Amino acid sequence: MARKRNVWEIPVGHELTEMDRRILEFQERGKLVPTRDLIKTPEQIAGIRKAGVLNTDVLDKVQEMIRPGISTLDIDKLVYEYTTQHGGIPAPLNYEGFPNSCCTSINDVVCHGIPRADDILEEGDIINVDCTTIVDGYFADASRMFVVGGKTQPRWQKLVDVAWECLKIGEEVCAKPYVFVGDLGNAIAKHAHKNHMSVVRDLCGHGVGLEFHEQPDVEHFGHKGTGMLLVPGMTFTIEPMINLGHWQVCVDDDDPTGWVIVTEDYEPSAQWEHTYVMTENGVEVLTH
Ligand code: MF3
Ligand code: CO
Ligand code: CO
Repeated sequence: MARKRNVWEIPVGHELTEMDRRILEFQERGKLVPTRDLIKTPEQIAGIRKAGVLNTDVLDKVQEMIRPGISTLDIDKLVYEYTTQHGGIPAPLNYEGFPNSCCTSINDVVCHGIPRADDILEEGDIINVDCTTIVDGYFADASRMFVVGGKTQPRWQKLVDVAWECLKIGEEVCAKPYVFVGDLGNAIAKHAHKNHMSVVRDLCGHGVGLEFHEQPDVEHFGHKGTGMLLVPGMTFTIEPMINLGHWQVCVDDDDPTGWVIVTEDYEPSAQWEHTYVMTENGVEVLTH
């Protein structure tokens, strides 16, 4: 594929706004700026917000059913039924060959775990359920961690908590527009490392809204001032995957689809995700 640098285009006859001026200034300094198509209209943001409301309802329903003894396929069935009965489509279903309606990632599964009838939740497991909902063509994407039975080993609980704090720290960096993806990645990685945990590098957050995965890549590590500039109207996820051991991950050998990502060292991994819209006053969560 041809590589092309993003250019902030000024349509013919278009009067420069304050936002144009600011973006052009960053572009002149060699920074990665968004393309105009990444800026959603108020109508599009309303659509993504609506998808976010249903996605949150689905995750609330999942939360109610999590307990020892259920299978991850039970979770998947609920996600499919609830989503479709309320006018939505589960985006994962048949997405690039993904066979189910949500991802269920237990313990050392980092992400993209596939729901199965023989995958039974046990007391003390930690599980991420990741749901993406399409409503009227708009996408919203979020995931939560659950501690099965409410209690797990202290170090695993700490992992779940630190992963949550990492998401909140990413959000705080985005408390104003015109920050860079690298700014939030840098802050997230610092927090993980301070807690002697690591950040998965092979998977990242992403633009979302009109499609499942759009520009930009939202890496959860990196240097300040690198990565894409985040400007009002952009919609994207933050979804740090934090490992208790080292950051290396691989495709699960036992998974014929090639989707399931596990930690190399068998230590657990935790992740929380929200969909956000950047505004003049910083990010707003669209999935709670
Ligand atoms: N929801 C995941 C994300 O946060 C993507 C899952 S792709 C799927 O980006 F096909 F596995 F569902
Ligand atoms: Co997701
Ligand atoms: Co996502």
